[in-house]
Amino acid sequence: MAQTSQAKAQTMRAVALDNFGGPEALKIQNIPIPEIDAHEVLIRVEAAGVGAWDPFEREGRFVEIMGTKPTFPYVLGTDGAGTVAAVGTDVSRFKKGDRVYAAELANPKGGFYAQYAAVKADNVSLIPGELTVEQAAVLPTDALTALTGLEKVLGLKSGESLMVFGASGGIGHLALQLAKRLGADVFAIASGDDGVQLAQKLGADHTVDGRRDDVLNAAREFAPDGIDAALVTAGGATTAQALSAIRKGGRIAYPHGVMPEPTAPDGVEIEAYDGEFSPALIERLNALIESGPFQVHVDRTFRLEEASDAHKALTEHHLGKIALRIE
Ligand SMILES: NC(=O)c1ccc[n+]([C@@H]2O[C@H](COP(=O)([O-])OP(=O)(O)OC[C@H]3O[C@@H](n4cnc5c(N)ncnc54)[C@H](OP(=O)(O)O)[C@@H]3O)[C@@H](O)[C@H]2O)c1
Repeated sequence: MAQTSQAKAQTMRAVALDNFGGPEALKIQNIPIPEIDAHEVLIRVEAAGVGAWDPFEREGRFVEIMGTKPTFPYVLGTDGAGTVAAVGTDVSRFKKGDRVYAAELANPKGGFYAQYAAVKADNVSLIPGELTVEQAAVLPTDALTALTGLEKVLGLKSGESLMVFGASGGIGHLALQLAKRLGADVFAIASGDDGVQLAQKLGADHTVDGRRDDVLNAAREFAPDGIDAALVTAGGATTAQALSAIRKGGRIAYPHGVMPEPTAPDGVEIEAYDGEFSPALIERLNALIESGPFQVHVDRTFRLEEASDAHKALTEHHLGKIALRIE
């Protein structure tokens, strides 16, 4: 009897794939709680972020690109938040009970669509500011990708003008707020009336609806000599039009994954990049978040059992991010 309850305690509920595939491949299963190594933290997950890239991983395309051999059951979820349940012997920055958020891409020990996740301590941080656990869960990858783009790739300086294309999306709505904190004048291209309202509320200096408005005209009115830099989170014909408002000598950055891939007008630099994860960058992000009111927009929260609905919702118009609540 005792053995049975111990065996039960060592398993957890997770949404795990037995094979890569469509949303229907996401199934609730009981699987072992991952074990931590010396440099890892075990997180009792309360919420997970649903990333725009999760369907890509679900279909097995990440492992294809990275050339890694997947092990099944395979648990998705790059981003999550909750409470520290245990720390490895080399971990001194965290203790049991700390409220944390973390990100780890294609974690071989399993992602955050589960009750527990074992994560490298370097990828873990205390939850900053007044963020709820859902807000913290959806934050890390998109915020670090926004910050890497703004500071490292674009080298954005105070007083410069910045276009954020996709300003009501996951990366965009965070990039907009971070860019304002870095002192930029932000021209936001959002999606739909609700997207425009969100970007305005988050402090954009000028906002247009990229699904309806004449973005090029508006951009030229905003900065008659051209806009200094652009962070692009969605591709297509409107993106190409908008980017012709970037001045000669200006810069464009977009994270790998944006399709179709944006191209630059003559005389403008363009760079595709990946978001970086490091304790120093996470600390920088937390400091920027804590320097004033910061809004992480969670459009919808689904239960773990509804993970396939959450994936379907990713393909529909939404603002900011989508979360899973894990009981
Ligand atoms: N390489 C990396 O390190 C990295 C990290 C994170 C993400 N990514 C990739 O970066 C991309 C963006 O990620 P994300 O999380 O920001 O995705 P997202 O939440 O889907 O954001 C993209 C936004 O662009 C909007 N949009 C599309 N066309 C538009 C238009 N014509 N005018 C205005 N807005 C428009 C979309 O709005 P609607 O769809 O509602 O219209 C959506 O809000 C994805 O491909 C993701 O996989 C890469």
